[in-house]
Amino acid sequence: MDKKFEVLPEHIAIIMDGNGRWAKKRGLERTEGHKVGAEVFRKICQYASDIGIKYMTFYAFSTENWKRSEKEVGKIMDLLRVYLGEMEEREEENEAAGYNIRFIGSREGMPEDIVTLMDIVESRSNDKDKIHINIAVNYGGRAEIVKSAKELAEKVKNGELQPKDITEDMISAGLYTANQPDPDLIIRPSGEYRLSNFLIWQAAYAEFFYDDILWPDYTPADLDRAIEAFLKRNRRFGGV
Ligand code: IPE
Ligand code: IPE
Ligand code: MG
Repeated sequence: MDKKFEVLPEHIAIIMDGNGRWAKKRGLERTEGHKVGAEVFRKICQYASDIGIKYMTFYAFSTENWKRSEKEVGKIMDLLRVYLGEMEEREEENEAAGYNIRFIGSREGMPEDIVTLMDIVESRSNDKDKIHINIAVNYGGRAEIVKSAKELAEKVKNGELQPKDITEDMISAGLYTANQPDPDLIIRPSGEYRLSNFLIWQAAYAEFFYDDILWPDYTPADLDRAIEAFLKRNRRFGGV
């Protein structure tokens, strides 16, 4: 593929929202929206990789999404199972694609078979570096900061660290996104203007792009539009 953009954001994060409304508009069950949403996720991963994005983070399931009906949560877990199963079976294809996949979020409370598959997919892909794909599952930004704080507190308790020596980098290093750049661009489709507990620490200087389109309708051209808007922004990081 010809180089489409001369410069690109290094890390793009997407809140994959609007599946339920997409289905409702068509008189379908909400779960049908999740099914199409999962296909769109695959396409956007491929496209992001093709144009040369190095890091993509997708919000798939939040720590708050357990509040939904058992049926809906079950369907989302099934879709995840199918995706992981494919990743496990098609090892050679993944090898060629160069996806480095990481699941960010808590494994606690997740079905055991899914956790096992997540571990396999992660460990098989961790030497790849065409594109890093983070999939946020059972993810909450506040819970993630608490996790990092607990790890530092343990070090203080063991006498390895003094409270006065705690730095921002140490907190970042305890997050699921350790060793990765913060997102440059966060995209939320579906017409909602909020973060919903997504990457709240990492988003400190991210640019936001909100879009009216529902996730199952999202296309590579929509990602292009967000990138074009991003490239026109003037990021100052507190300077002048
Ligand atoms: C996003 O779509 C997927 C998940 C949160 C799992 P929604 O299911 O939130 O769709 P809407 O917002 O109800 O339309
Ligand atoms: C955020 O969407 C979570 C995901 C897209 C996975 P929600 O649909 O859960 O967010 P709210 O409830 O509208 O804030
Ligand atoms: Mg939603």
